[in-house]
Amino acid sequence: AGTGKFFVGGNWKCNGSKDSIAKLVGDLNAAKLEDDVEVIVAPPFIYISQVKDSLTAPIQISAQNSWVGKGGAFTGEISAEQLKDIGCEWVILGHSERRHIIGESNEFTGKKAAYALEQNLKVIGCVGEKLEEREAGKTFDVCFEQLKAFADAVPSWDNIVIAYEPVWAIGTGKVATPQQAQEVHAAIRDWMAKNVTPEVAKKVRIIYGGSVNGANCAELAKQEDIDGFLVGGASLKGAEFATICNSVT
Ligand code: G3P
Repeated sequence: AGTGKFFVGGNWKCNGSKDSIAKLVGDLNAAKLEDDVEVIVAPPFIYISQVKDSLTAPIQISAQNSWVGKGGAFTGEISAEQLKDIGCEWVILGHSERRHIIGESNEFTGKKAAYALEQNLKVIGCVGEKLEEREAGKTFDVCFEQLKAFADAVPSWDNIVIAYEPVWAIGTGKVATPQQAQEVHAAIRDWMAKNVTPEVAKKVRIIYGGSVNGANCAELAKQEDIDGFLVGGASLKGAEFATICNSVT
């Protein structure tokens, strides 16, 4: 892994009920998480307070999205201020499901990141190519364009973690090989060195997401530029998620 503290996020997506989440939090509280890992979970908005109130494990809370600006007449949206108000510290932005299912653009995503940072939320900014883009040899172009939209909008990278999530690997059980992931992570770091600063490139954590599980995490975690994971399906199982969190040690 790279130089920053290993970082593992559990993105619960649109899953769970009061009962299943109580059970998941109970399992996380019972798990032993290593000290040198930064762990966050991202429940659906409506369960954030429940999770916050019942977690005793050293885990921070993230939202899965936030509105692009100050709250107001934006039906169905949740503002960065509201997330801060309920004790949320992080937000995931630019997830491929928001880009490709909901239709959020690079520019809109960049603006969201800038606004969330301004409100003192930390950001997990996601990038990643679709299968046809990979097959057309456009993986780097797509990721760099998405990165550039973040870079053009944000004043600083201090509170951003980059998540590389190849769309073809998300929820498919088809994990990127450690070499495939490492290749893109290294390219992202290189892009950051050239287009932001070498210091930021060295420091920024680049985490991998896409079908990470308890069985494949250790090999991925050994790669030089993989600084952690963003986990979907496997983060809904407390013991397996803990295994992934502890995979670097
Ligand atoms: O944000 C995490 C993610 O999109 C990966 O999902 O289910 O493939 O681990 P999954």
